[in-house]
Amino acid sequence: MAVVAIIGAQWGDEGKGKIVDLLAEQARVVVRYQGGTNAGHTIVNQHGTFKMRLIPSGIFNPRIIAVIGNGVVVDPAALLGEMAELEARGIPTNRLLVSERAHVLMPYHALLDQLEETNRAASGQSVGTTKRGIGPAYQDKVARIGIRVGDLVQEETLLSKLSFVLNMKNQLLTKVYGEQPLDLHHIYLQCVDYGHRLRKHILDTHLVIHRALDERHNILLEGAQGALLDIDYGTYPYVTSSSPTAGGACLGAGVPPNAIDNVVGVYKAYCTRVGEGPFPTELEGEQADYLRNQGGEGHREYGTVTGRPRRVGWFDGVAARYVARLNGISGLVITRLDALDDMATIKVCTAYQINDTVVQYMPSDVASLLKAVPIYEELPGWQTPTSSVTEWKELPANARAYLNRLQVLIGARLDIVSVGPDRKQTIMINKPFDALPATVSRYVSTLGDRSAGAKWGGEE
Ligand code: IMP
Repeated sequence: MAVVAIIGAQWGDEGKGKIVDLLAEQARVVVRYQGGTNAGHTIVNQHGTFKMRLIPSGIFNPRIIAVIGNGVVVDPAALLGEMAELEARGIPTNRLLVSERAHVLMPYHALLDQLEETNRAASGQSVGTTKRGIGPAYQDKVARIGIRVGDLVQEETLLSKLSFVLNMKNQLLTKVYGEQPLDLHHIYLQCVDYGHRLRKHILDTHLVIHRALDERHNILLEGAQGALLDIDYGTYPYVTSSSPTAGGACLGAGVPPNAIDNVVGVYKAYCTRVGEGPFPTELEGEQADYLRNQGGEGHREYGTVTGRPRRVGWFDGVAARYVARLNGISGLVITRLDALDDMATIKVCTAYQINDTVVQYMPSDVASLLKAVPIYEELPGWQTPTSSVTEWKELPANARAYLNRLQVLIGARLDIVSVGPDRKQTIMINKPFDALPATVSRYVSTLGDRSAGAKWGGEE
């Protein structure tokens, strides 16, 4: 049994969806632990191509319990839409569970996200959010005025909470932003309907996860976005509102820190970022366009959710190592190696020059990061296609040298290399559920029978 957390180790869009889908084969439970519909995974497997924003990639395996954990902000309409699409394509969703502690993304959240973003943009302070309402939903959680998924099935509680919150939101909408107020009755009935349709999926999911721990099943904790967008450790304020880190996995799933055996960091072989904020190794012009358009139809560097072109740049070894240390990354996945196939030389940033000082750490303030001039090391390219390589030894020598250099810079063991969107386009060096690092403390259950009453999803 092992608990593996998969985190995005850059600014999101590292290709976690494919890796989760791949590793889920060995798991009994897959838990998404933060974020919301700001995320977008593209999964290509034997059932076809799927774009999902909320449902964990483990849903494709009929023996897996797929959990949307308490740390996620859930847009019920989007969730029901994803469920309907999966069902229509023959993928059952009866083993999908949603934490009753997760917060609901309400209609006023998306509206306020757009208004706040427009307001910030007017003063040159735009964050470039996905405008899905994620920030406002987490704001309400922290302000203790959020509607939780469990409230959707408690109609009286829902009405009383919603009346109070909507009154506040309507004051904000009308008096500050000059918008029309939202209708309580309409939103209430919509929520009641969501509650009815989701009722059998809603429960206190941490109990199910603890039962899996007690019974020594493999558990996969799936993060969204990336650690450099973390609310505390990302490039604040150009960040998302949750913690896509390994620490966030504990809180957002309800798993104790010492239960996690292996933290797998997913890095792209280069860097991308969507939205505003510092990006020291960013490329402009032709080189950027070239890299952005690698990967074939549907797999180019444009946002899955918003369609915005992603900013692209060289691999940032300083940021990569910072993330590895912050999260205790024990295994690495490097994705999109094939995008570099045609390059004659490839640059890797090994330090930043800030004013007159060379630094090897990531400064906490945006002003310093904006001044950071990357110091590059140049490595020879391999100029050979890699997208059908499935074995480490079949990779061109220069590609192996590049990957080895990244391993050293990051300071963790390379487990998997991805050379295309398909499951088959994978070089598996170590299986994260089998090859646990020597130093990890295996979880020993001290929970006795506390989880004994918890039911697996779909169990009668
Ligand atoms: P929000 O999460 O919509 O509030 O957006 C905050 C910042 O995080 C913006 O720069 C977004 O572009 C970025 N962001 C949010 N979700 C993702 C993602 O899944 N991939 C990449 N960037 C994201």
